[in-house]
Amino acid sequence: MSGWSFDTRQVHAGARPDPATGARATPIYQTTSFAFEDANHAAEVFALRDLESHAYTRLSNPTTLVVEERIADLEGGVAAVAVASGQAATTLALLNIARAGDHVVSSAALYGGTYNLLAYTFADLGITVDFVRDPDDLAAWRAAVRPETKAFYAESVGNPRGNVLDVAAVADVAHQAGVPLVVDNTVPTPYLSRPFEHGADIVVHSTTKFLSGHGSGIGGVVVDGGRFDFTADPARWPQLNEPDPSSHGLVFGQEFGDVGYSLRLRTKLVRDLGPAVSPFNSFLLLQGIETLSLRLDRHVANARAVAEWLADQPQVTEVHYAGLPDSPWHDAAKRYHPLGVGAIVSFELAGGVAAGRRFVDRVELFSHLANIGDVRSLAIHPASTTHAQLTPDQQAASGVTPGLIRLSVGIEGVGDLIADLRRGLADG
Ligand SMILES: Cc1ncc(COP(=O)(O)O)c(C=O)c1O
Repeated sequence: MSGWSFDTRQVHAGARPDPATGARATPIYQTTSFAFEDANHAAEVFALRDLESHAYTRLSNPTTLVVEERIADLEGGVAAVAVASGQAATTLALLNIARAGDHVVSSAALYGGTYNLLAYTFADLGITVDFVRDPDDLAAWRAAVRPETKAFYAESVGNPRGNVLDVAAVADVAHQAGVPLVVDNTVPTPYLSRPFEHGADIVVHSTTKFLSGHGSGIGGVVVDGGRFDFTADPARWPQLNEPDPSSHGLVFGQEFGDVGYSLRLRTKLVRDLGPAVSPFNSFLLLQGIETLSLRLDRHVANARAVAEWLADQPQVTEVHYAGLPDSPWHDAAKRYHPLGVGAIVSFELAGGVAAGRRFVDRVELFSHLANIGDVRSLAIHPASTTHAQLTPDQQAASGVTPGLIRLSVGIEGVGDLIADLRRGLADG
């Protein structure tokens, strides 16, 4: 698909008329399994010598394959594996290279669920994660590295504070340490930000959000940029350089070149742990991706107008949106997100927790719920919901203060959105 614009590729990459029926829209292959032609065909598929055929929808599916090829293309990666949720994507992206005894360095400015996963569930698995409180502090990333470090992890635009990661600088530190940088690109999507172009090695998404846009299906994807050479230091990456006894003794990194990482993730981790996405959700996701750039342009225009309006309101002490000129991340936003920084706008209410709770109870057009990236406008008070399980110190490290409200600005008429926000902020 090289040579075609983003707008064309979001509609066409990975898809073609259905070879069986000619159906032009990608059909939903709602089947668990695929019949083998004969015993030899089955053996070839199981031995991973035939990578074209499908065997079982936990491993691959034709509808999901279109999603994978499309997102890999839009991100500029070599391969993608679609999974059941964004959480599954992060989990598998890291478990593919880190095991018990290993270590990960992560930005602390994270979606609360990712923080929990890394801080607690990874600890249960024997993987230690150190959090860098200020992801712009390169010395802190460097200082956190240990001999057993296996990855750096960060969000390209942090949820909920909207901090913009200096991808190139953090990737440099990761590469000096000999490890890949894994970036969660959920908030901007590949339309607004392509981390591989700046040195990131693996990209993950919650496709539940803007990539889908309709708020109808949970999903995730891991995309491999294909440039991190896991074979250069075999002792450090045994998963990719030692024969895998559960996969016919295959050595993924050496036998499959730049798709070894993604192939292992699919044929070992999704196979064994099981977080496969349903073909129906892949179909829903495709419907969303086809209009990604059109929706995002409107999301960005609305978010900018909302952020500017909020900044003028006396009840609001601070607006976090890197699209505003006085944001500490405005320069990084211009560099990494020339078409706009997305539609997550957070702001601080002078009245703290009480004012935050009052706001979410009063708005009518903004739906009060725990999601982002819907065409509908959404609002939440993180301190009492998504981040409530974190300690006050962990909340502060994630960028969550008592009076913080997170908006995911939708594509409705912006005048209606501002009227609703005015209702939410009204006194009394
Ligand atoms: C930035 C980010 N990453 C990952 C996730 C997790 O995605 P999912 O809910 O699809 O598991 C979320 C969910 O809110 C998110 O906002």
